[in-house]
Amino acid sequence: MAEVGKNGEYVLGEVIYDASNRCWVLQMEASTYCFGLNHGDSSLQHIYWGPYIDSIAASEMAYLAESISIPFESPTGLSREEYAPWGEMRYSEPSLKVEYADGTRVIEWTFEEHGVVRSEVSQTLWLRFRDRAYPLTVTLYYRIFTGHDVIERWARLENTGGSGPVTIEQALSADWRPPRRERYRLTYLYGQHVKEMQIAAAILSPGKIVLESRRGATSHQFNPWMALDPDASALEESGEVWSAALAWSGSWKIVVETTTYGDVHCTGGVNDFDFQYRLDEGARLDLPAFVGLYSNQGFGGVSRSWHAYQREHLLPEPPEAVRPVLYNSWEAVAFDVNERNQMELAEKAAELGTEVFVVDDGWFDARDHDYAGLGDWTVDPKKFPHGLNPLITRVNALGMRFGLWVEPEMVNPDSKLYRAHPDWVYHFRQRSRTEGRNQLVLNLAREDVRDWVCETLDTLLSEHNIEFIKWDMNRYVSEPGWPDDAERNPERVWLDHVRNLYWIIDELRRRHPHVAFESCAGGGGRVDLGILSRVEQVWPSDNTDALDRLLIQEGFSYAYTPRVMMCWVTDCPNFLTKRTVPLSYRFHVAMSGSLGIGGDIARWTPQELEEARGFIARYKQVRSTIQNGLLYRLHSPRKGHVAAAQYVTRDGSEVVVFVWGHSQQFGETQVTLALNGLKGDALFADAISGSTYSSAYLTHHGLPMNLVGDFDSCMVHLIRQMPAR
Ligand code: DGJ
Repeated sequence: MAEVGKNGEYVLGEVIYDASNRCWVLQMEASTYCFGLNHGDSSLQHIYWGPYIDSIAASEMAYLAESISIPFESPTGLSREEYAPWGEMRYSEPSLKVEYADGTRVIEWTFEEHGVVRSEVSQTLWLRFRDRAYPLTVTLYYRIFTGHDVIERWARLENTGGSGPVTIEQALSADWRPPRRERYRLTYLYGQHVKEMQIAAAILSPGKIVLESRRGATSHQFNPWMALDPDASALEESGEVWSAALAWSGSWKIVVETTTYGDVHCTGGVNDFDFQYRLDEGARLDLPAFVGLYSNQGFGGVSRSWHAYQREHLLPEPPEAVRPVLYNSWEAVAFDVNERNQMELAEKAAELGTEVFVVDDGWFDARDHDYAGLGDWTVDPKKFPHGLNPLITRVNALGMRFGLWVEPEMVNPDSKLYRAHPDWVYHFRQRSRTEGRNQLVLNLAREDVRDWVCETLDTLLSEHNIEFIKWDMNRYVSEPGWPDDAERNPERVWLDHVRNLYWIIDELRRRHPHVAFESCAGGGGRVDLGILSRVEQVWPSDNTDALDRLLIQEGFSYAYTPRVMMCWVTDCPNFLTKRTVPLSYRFHVAMSGSLGIGGDIARWTPQELEEARGFIARYKQVRSTIQNGLLYRLHSPRKGHVAAAQYVTRDGSEVVVFVWGHSQQFGETQVTLALNGLKGDALFADAISGSTYSSAYLTHHGLPMNLVGDFDSCMVHLIRQMPAR
């Protein structure tokens, strides 16, 4: 670990320890984070999180930490702790609460040791605390990455043995503390099925706002992402924003608390509702990461930082990988898949330039509707008399990869699996088993169920050349019981379901490294940093109406990179909204993420197919800019009748701009878009029209576009001319 004053002040991506002030400084790309043991050895105090400052200035702040004295409070309870174990006079939301075997229910810990683990791209600082009298150690981790402002924080709990089990009642991953300001605005993402990732904001006042899921999965209702900006002062491209997101796909909670003394802190992790985890002697528990970052470039800056981190350090694919254009059968034929119609769709999909062909729900035994079949993962011989292989061979011969839909955590009561293993689902004795979409949730926390799911999918993947899996989950957990485990710790299902889900995906990826995964939970019910570290893409919503999608995709882009955002072009009128919009508008909306086709292309007219072929060819030319570039949201679809977004390659050589007009108003057809993020003095040429523009013109005057009538849209691809002027 570098020491303050010895290693220079401008080392970025560096963890620095100041022994005299007993504090640590994390120096990142454009920000600094500092905390220390300035109240003795028993509490870790937050010191600084904000724009880059030198390490000496940061560690000097350790001296300045105020010690406030207020009746009915203690200095510890009032202090700005990095991670608060419940005990002493702490009355705001703690991060950790346990009960020891003898009934003691508070923690008194003391700092033990620290260290740094370095890799080529990251540094991980760890600090270990130990309970003074009981065998519990808590290790706090901070991981930073060269070239980023992201801090991954998590904790490890370990029962070192000698005093029986430790019951963990609440174990959050980290507590984030933006600096004291007059007032903060909280921005977060909420929604429902077919209305995911809506942007909401609230001005904080004393009290708590709890964002959470108690559903056993990430949820459509709230996404585990949030941002704080002081005095609602941040704009799209300016202002300070502190943001955090959880890497967890189960029940979670983020508590944003404003104390009556004006401090804002935000602790988050696995939801403690209905939760208990028995940590036996010698056992340890690694909590999921709660990741944070700071930007002084507004919400746009925050989003670009999240995207870069996901591309470079989270996703299973390399940073420059691009997602293929995909076809999915769901909206075209629903459960009515069969060899004949899939062959026909595959021929058309290949003609269009599609690269992955995915057979969605309906391909397995008894799956003619959603009342039966889940759990029996064998190919329906009525629909595919020769199995899936003839179709897969044809799809491959057409130059496409083959993909398949599965929903492995579920079972229909009308299935061979459920008849054989009624005890394999979550349930309580003497209680109903509530069905959602006519299905029950398998108790994935059970090892036998976990192994059965893994082996069943392994067989499917081994017997077929499947290169893409869409992993769906169409209901949340209810009656989370495990009667046979009553002696042990049935409440751990909330944690173990997700850990075993991760284990299965990781294991399948290890055994079948050529298979890519998509996370879907009835649309965007399972989108988070945890699942994104093991899947290539996600399905953001079952809502494929292009206008609604703009709103969903905007919220999505606040937290997650366009690379992982699968967007289909589907038929009109839209099945959900009954809205009809031009094919070009549907393409332009879907092209602003990872493009897919979900319509019944067997019934598209030759003109529509021709148009689609053109859009797909064009998309392939610009997709690396869209999927891996820097996103600037120029006009929000939430404001006005025109929305626009711009993507710039990291080297600034290419720019893609989309503009979508929802409705023509007052006969005004001209839209001028002032572009962002263009470096230096360069000349850009429009790849389609050949028109040239200087970067100064594009930035200060703006790119002129024309939109005529309702639902007109346009994509412009600008290429920097060499040599740059
Ligand atoms: C929900 C998904 O979001 C849809 O895309 C489709 O796969 C259906 N499930 C199939 O049941």
